[in-house]
Amino acid sequence: MIEIQAGTLEGFRPKDGPLAIFLLEGDGLALHPSLKKHAPQILALARGENLRGRAGQVASVTLGNQKLLLAGIGKKDHVDQEALRRTCAQVARYAQSRYTTLGVGLPVPPSKRLSTVDLAMAAAEGLALGTYRYTKYKKISKEEEPILQKAVLLGSSRDQAALHKAVHKAGIRVDSVAFVRDLVNQGPSDKKPETLASLARSIAKGPIRAKIFTKKDLQAMGMNAILGVARGSPVEPCFVHLTYKPRGRARKRIALVGKGITFDSGGLSLKSPQHMETMKMDMAGAAAVLGVFKALPVFKPQVEVQGFMPFTYNLPGGDALKPGDILRAYNGKTIEVLNTDAEGRLILCDALAYASKMKFDAIIDLATLTGSALVALGSKVTGAMTNNKGLWEDLQRAGQRAGESLWELPLVSEYKDSLRSKVADLQNISSIRGEAGTIIGGLFLQEFVDTAPWIHLDIAGTAWSNGTSAYQSPGGTGAMVRTLIEYLESL
Ligand code: BES
Ligand code: ZN
Ligand code: ZN
Repeated sequence: MIEIQAGTLEGFRPKDGPLAIFLLEGDGLALHPSLKKHAPQILALARGENLRGRAGQVASVTLGNQKLLLAGIGKKDHVDQEALRRTCAQVARYAQSRYTTLGVGLPVPPSKRLSTVDLAMAAAEGLALGTYRYTKYKKISKEEEPILQKAVLLGSSRDQAALHKAVHKAGIRVDSVAFVRDLVNQGPSDKKPETLASLARSIAKGPIRAKIFTKKDLQAMGMNAILGVARGSPVEPCFVHLTYKPRGRARKRIALVGKGITFDSGGLSLKSPQHMETMKMDMAGAAAVLGVFKALPVFKPQVEVQGFMPFTYNLPGGDALKPGDILRAYNGKTIEVLNTDAEGRLILCDALAYASKMKFDAIIDLATLTGSALVALGSKVTGAMTNNKGLWEDLQRAGQRAGESLWELPLVSEYKDSLRSKVADLQNISSIRGEAGTIIGGLFLQEFVDTAPWIHLDIAGTAWSNGTSAYQSPGGTGAMVRTLIEYLESL
């Protein structure tokens, strides 16, 4: 990922690299006022290159001795943070193999609703995330090696305080997103529960404390659902509990609960090889929680945040859970396991029941829970299910500001009956197959939270990207990290 800095347009020289500016679809430029005097010439150059400002188009032209990167940002009415984030990612990708440094002439905010900080943050996020690559296990040849080192966000001298603030805030977010992407992309055998627990311990500095429960602790506590899922694996499970306390009085107490299946084979209800290919990503919920905690000591929100992460493999070893087995969860409810591939809800029900015993103002869980989430909402929209409208509205708004979409699915109580078991309090899959899988997952989890405001985020679709899109590369995406940081900052 490249480094982002703030600077002034007046101080930018041709030797500092090309200057990126934004071309509107139709005709016109989204330009900083200090560049307006060059607008007619720039537009003529754009026309000469047949550039029409279509989103995603990037080309270089020369004005005097200054190289310009003309970046299409789309229609004027659609210019917002997300458009800028995407366009900046495209600019950075274009520049990556061509230049070592780059200036970006920020447009003025298109409406009163957006501040210079908002725009500059979006630009910085796009530039950094667009150049993220996962190279831990890959040899990169000299020719493939990107040469772009840094991009400078340019505004007038009056904008400098805003630009510095934006670069700082965006830096925290993209560092956390990259950290989560790295974790999700890591090979499944290289991220054992104990490895991730050590990582959590290394994050627990300053205002963060870590408590790690081992298999023995889980047995003593009665976390039998987590233990059940872990039975098919030779590697022991663990449960990580992180606590961040702000200085002074906390305005709110928030719990973040993340699914940490370090590989999901399906267990005895074995997945097909094709469905297993990406299952190293089944810890993306827990990774997102770790990513948020990594950011907390830097952005220091005035809220207490606790993280709960059950970690285990889901494997079909000799002692594995068998369909028909009955588990007694932490809160005493019994669960008939009819499908060992519906394991996320098993480890989460213990974690949620545990968190529910402490009084939180909100409990947010993140889980790659159901393949149905991908069917229902695709890979760009996270499914949300909640018992509290206010919490949903807060998160949806945070998502909008952060550039991540969420959509609410209803926790239809009529569907609850389908989770009734003949021999236990609950069964872990619905008796009606192939219907409303994501909602069923949410309804199951709801049985383990009491009355606390709670929201379940199914990131099975959004935590992983199959192709390259504006500021995502194939693999882990870091879904919901920016949204959660934005949410915690807003409290
Ligand atoms: N980890 C999977 C869900 C998943 C699927 C995440 C595809 C990302 C992409 C989860 O544990 C699972 O296997 N769920 C089952 C539930 C079913 C057995 C009720 C599913 O979605 O098929
Ligand atoms: Zn599964
Ligand atoms: Zn799973």
